[in-house]
Amino acid sequence: MGLIHETDYGTKPSASAKIVTLTIDGTKIEVAEGTSIMRAAMEAGIQVPKLCATDTLDPFGSCRLCLVEIQGRNGTPASCTTPVAEGLVVSTQTPRLKQLRRGVMELYISDHPLDCLTCAANGDCELQDMAGAVGLREVRYGYEGENHLGLAKDESNPYFTFDSSKCIACSRCVRACEETQGTFALTIEGRGFGSRVSAGAGDTFLESDCVSCGACVQACPTATLTEKSVIEIGQPEHSVVTTCAYCGVGCSFKAEMRGQEVVRMVPYKDGKANRGHSCVKGRFAWGYATHKDRILNPMIRAKITDPWREVSWDEALAHAASEFKRIQSKYGRNAVGGITSSRCTNEETYLVQKLVRAGFGNNNVDTCARVCHSPTGYGLSTTYGTSAGTQDFDSVEHADVVVVIGANPTDGHPVFASRLKKRLREGAKLIVIDPRRIDLVRTPHVEAAHHLPLRPGTNVAVLTALAHVIVTESLVNEAFVRANCDLAEFDRWAAFVAEERNSPEEVAKFAGVAAETIRAAARLYATGGNAAIYYGLGVTEHSQGSTAVMAIANLAMATGNIGRPGVGVNPLRGQNNVQGACDMGSFPHELSGYRHVSDDGARAMFETLWGVTLDKEPGLRIPNMLDAAVDGAFKGLYIQGEDILQSDPDTHHVAAGLAAMECVIVQDLFLNETANYAHIFLPGSTFLEKDGTFTNAERRIQRVRKVMAPRNGLGDWEVTLAFAKALGFAMDYAHPSQIMDEIAAVTPTFKGVSYAKLDELGSVQWPCNDKAPEGTPVMHVGGFVRGKGRFVITEYVATDERVGPRFPLLLTTGRILSQYNVGAQTRRTANVVWHEEDRLEINPHDAEVRGIRDGDWVAVRSRAGETALRALITDRVAAGVVYTTFHHPDTQANVVTTDYSDWATNCPEYKVTAVQCMPSNGPSDWQSRYRAHADRSRRIAKPAEVAE
Ligand code: SF4
Ligand code: SF4
Ligand code: SF4
Ligand code: FES
Repeated sequence: MGLIHETDYGTKPSASAKIVTLTIDGTKIEVAEGTSIMRAAMEAGIQVPKLCATDTLDPFGSCRLCLVEIQGRNGTPASCTTPVAEGLVVSTQTPRLKQLRRGVMELYISDHPLDCLTCAANGDCELQDMAGAVGLREVRYGYEGENHLGLAKDESNPYFTFDSSKCIACSRCVRACEETQGTFALTIEGRGFGSRVSAGAGDTFLESDCVSCGACVQACPTATLTEKSVIEIGQPEHSVVTTCAYCGVGCSFKAEMRGQEVVRMVPYKDGKANRGHSCVKGRFAWGYATHKDRILNPMIRAKITDPWREVSWDEALAHAASEFKRIQSKYGRNAVGGITSSRCTNEETYLVQKLVRAGFGNNNVDTCARVCHSPTGYGLSTTYGTSAGTQDFDSVEHADVVVVIGANPTDGHPVFASRLKKRLREGAKLIVIDPRRIDLVRTPHVEAAHHLPLRPGTNVAVLTALAHVIVTESLVNEAFVRANCDLAEFDRWAAFVAEERNSPEEVAKFAGVAAETIRAAARLYATGGNAAIYYGLGVTEHSQGSTAVMAIANLAMATGNIGRPGVGVNPLRGQNNVQGACDMGSFPHELSGYRHVSDDGARAMFETLWGVTLDKEPGLRIPNMLDAAVDGAFKGLYIQGEDILQSDPDTHHVAAGLAAMECVIVQDLFLNETANYAHIFLPGSTFLEKDGTFTNAERRIQRVRKVMAPRNGLGDWEVTLAFAKALGFAMDYAHPSQIMDEIAAVTPTFKGVSYAKLDELGSVQWPCNDKAPEGTPVMHVGGFVRGKGRFVITEYVATDERVGPRFPLLLTTGRILSQYNVGAQTRRTANVVWHEEDRLEINPHDAEVRGIRDGDWVAVRSRAGETALRALITDRVAAGVVYTTFHHPDTQANVVTTDYSDWATNCPEYKVTAVQCMPSNGPSDWQSRYRAHADRSRRIAKPAEVAE
């Protein structure tokens, strides 16, 4: 169990290698040059009173509590803003300083409600602590004069309150919002005695630009900004460090607990992915774990139209095993399969793929990466030799030029976005390639140097046009290419990209981006210093997703932007453990560590360890499983933590595939949309209820630690073990650490990983092995993993999904900050105040010609299906393009997405669907029919019904 209060050193550490020596209160101290006197003292165990300073923010010097005396200098400088110097002799505790500090504290306290005993922050209030630290025993001034005690509370934010009467105007919140989060939502209004914190002119927090990241709440030294959960539950008693279960940034948190109850999630300062920051999801949206909708008992039913019947774990698992055995004996070994979850731990995904390969006896295992980043794996392993991003997040602090393509970090990867914005405010240049004007294009103190608002589906053409400029304008880093890349491949590629048809002028004719903008962006990327590319699903979820990833890899190689901090190719992974799910062997053709199933040596190692014979043929991918189900050949599916009905494309086809199966097993927290087609439901456990590891977008393996007992009785890994045992394939592990030991034994890139090492180092980035025992922050240093970097020809092939008279608009999809993927978790939290429904963004011109007004219901029709949702008219999207999110099952956005997919990996082409949009009166017929089916399917039989 961990501490609640970590040491706050008052100011940030210095990165200087030069050491200076000084004396503080008679103690000789050696610290790095540039350290503040306050930090030097604190590091030596000498407490200096402070209020406006905290070690996550730049020093401000406003409260005058940290005064010190320095021999030979006049006055009493603030120790937080005064750096150390060689030979200084400092005193922190003299009679004069004590008197000055008491005077300062007396003024603060005389304008502060003295309700400490009933205040939510009692015991966690720096003002209270400092009153004690300076020895304040009486306050000479009463409340008779002018004061702020009657100011109203702002309770508009669902997660925290703002009680202005307790504010000491220290500005820590304002600075946190600016420096850490980069939103600039807060200001100090007024001057002198009248200065107050404000969330915008007359706005409440909810109405303001605040994105509810919680940085201000974290920074506030008083009860002014306080989590509502602390007010309701009380101060936490102990903490456990764990990892966020939402996005691929992988923020570390301290789960602060009272008994088995989470009081709050506090971003962990030592977390190497987030460095003490968070977003609204990880910080506040954990209430789903105890939501009333959680299913805590296993359930079975004969038909999907029957009500569910609650049964014991033993009965559910015995039934599941007998059904799968029956199906295999009747339809053959290959008639069943499994889907691993990118929301679950590495250990759990490893177990599911092991169950499929060794227990089911086939390779029919796949994962949600199929529908998001499978092209990243293919593209980067083809060009560089490793299926993962090249950098750590710290790398962005060394970038001079950043390209963001097909990603929306402020919504999808918010903590990374804050770090990126900070670097941009320091002067790095930004190029955004995206059909939408995402927030990064212009946000406070950040403006993109170039925005390329390309038409959806033209990524490869635009990326190749960038390469054309680099090659034809002699901007190639020839020394890097000669030293690190296959020269014959490079020559072929250079000749290809130099062809006139790949020039910006030709590409501009269909891509919707001015040739001059492409040229300017290419020049900046190639010549602006360290240049890094960050990309998301706007690159991968296309018919040429893998080609686009390779086009990005080509650009980085051609300009030498690989193999050091500040550069690289960085996929921003969607789900918390999508990297890990891929690493663990969740794809039908690959064992853990990306060894092909046809690799005899790798297979033999697993066969010896597991005591079975493994199939050397790749199994079915998710779309193939569904096709085979519709054809009658595939009959049983075990789905752990994945809602394919809502998340996969072409909902009609997914529904038809699931409905054709004889035994669908869903293991999840809630009765999700896929469970409407399931016969067996196994309750899942949340990240708070189990031990394990997640691997984030930087290949960083981090511990997930159990902070409470599983409410359903079993962790997900234990359920898979029990299912395997019921099938007759026993797997024997007493704790997830033993599963990790096996993963390390059979996976070369994980060879040095163990829970002991993770506990010692905090986290490690794979490869972690004999060559790199503490992990690998930056890959391909001094050469590519595959040997020579491989340039691949990236011929642009327009998608078959074309606009025409019937479907004249292009629909593209994405995410919003407050919601997460299919929304199963975030829709069950107060985050719904920011996003109650999916809306269709449509350009004013396209709306006007169709008679659509803001808020109207709009029917969206494609060749795959039709849905309806309400319109949001905005010029964020260009004419000809519409956009929506897919967080709400009522919208069924994937009813309209098609079965087109990436040529190499089958990753669906979510980002390009030709549609028509017309005014409508409300939900479509399909939506109404589906809702009726879902309502009927979710019924759980009452005990009396079961008896009948
Ligand atoms: S919660 Fe975050 S965005 Fe909102 S005011 Fe505080 S620091 Fe700014
Ligand atoms: S709200 Fe808190 S952090 Fe902000 S100025 Fe007031 S006391 Fe300081
Ligand atoms: S940025 Fe991602 S990992 Fe971090 S708190 Fe938000 S959702 Fe969690
Ligand atoms: S802590 Fe140094 S002036 Fe406030």
